[in-house]
Amino acid sequence: MKTHEPENLRQTKHRLALFLAGETKERIFKHPTAHPSRPTGLCHCDEGLFAPIRVYLRAALLQLVLQMPFNNLKIWLLRKMGARVGSNVYISACAWIDPLYPQLLTIEDDVFIGLKARIMTHEFRIDEFRAGKVFIRRGAFIGGFSLIACGIEIGQRAVVAGGAVVGTDIPAGATAIGNPARIVKRPKAEKKSESCNE
Ligand SMILES: CC(C)(COP(=O)(O)OP(=O)(O)OC[C@H]1O[C@@H](n2cnc3c(N)ncnc32)[C@H](O)[C@@H]1OP(=O)(O)O)[C@@H](O)C(=O)NCCC(=O)NCCS
Repeated sequence: MKTHEPENLRQTKHRLALFLAGETKERIFKHPTAHPSRPTGLCHCDEGLFAPIRVYLRAALLQLVLQMPFNNLKIWLLRKMGARVGSNVYISACAWIDPLYPQLLTIEDDVFIGLKARIMTHEFRIDEFRAGKVFIRRGAFIGGFSLIACGIEIGQRAVVAGGAVVGTDIPAGATAIGNPARIVKRPKAEKKSESCNE
């Protein structure tokens, strides 16, 4: 398996930097890689000494604060780290939010995030690296121990059940349960328009 040529990697990093700065429209940044056990050049752990230390310190700080019961402190720190967090958001103790790219996370007003819910903004796959924007729309409910994968949108007032593993967008007002999460309840308005079309 071949790793990428330096020139290719430079271009990729530039594309990633634009994506992280919000200067591109796509929701998911994808780049083919060799197996994740090989250096990809896209992980901070491949970048000398200081970059990994900075990332690990930031991750430790975020994790420490997220363990605590101080909601305002969590929200303040997430905003400092670049996440967009609305008003009246509650993040339960021990939630886990990806410390690598918190700037890709948007949590709108009136969202509740349950105990030990996990939200990813990047992932290494067997042959691909991804970074993805996550949108948790207004009034959504994220159940305890659930996992939201990178690049996912949870619609307005949608419910993610406890323990659900969400790998696809959840429409507004729907309830998603299980692993992989499936929609078990659709919003009332959608049901009504379906019956009108029958
Ligand atoms: C999703 C949820 C809101 C559904 O509540 P509900 O509408 O009252 O649904 P019900 O309890 O009637 O269950 C409907 C079906 O889904 C199943 N189900 C409910 N929650 C489930 C879950 N988390 N995972 C898997 N299946 C679940 C039920 O067993 C039932 O199955 P059945 O139709 O085969 O009997 C609720 O189960 C849930 O997960 N709440 C999350 C609570 C939480 O995490 N709070 C934050 C903690 S800090």
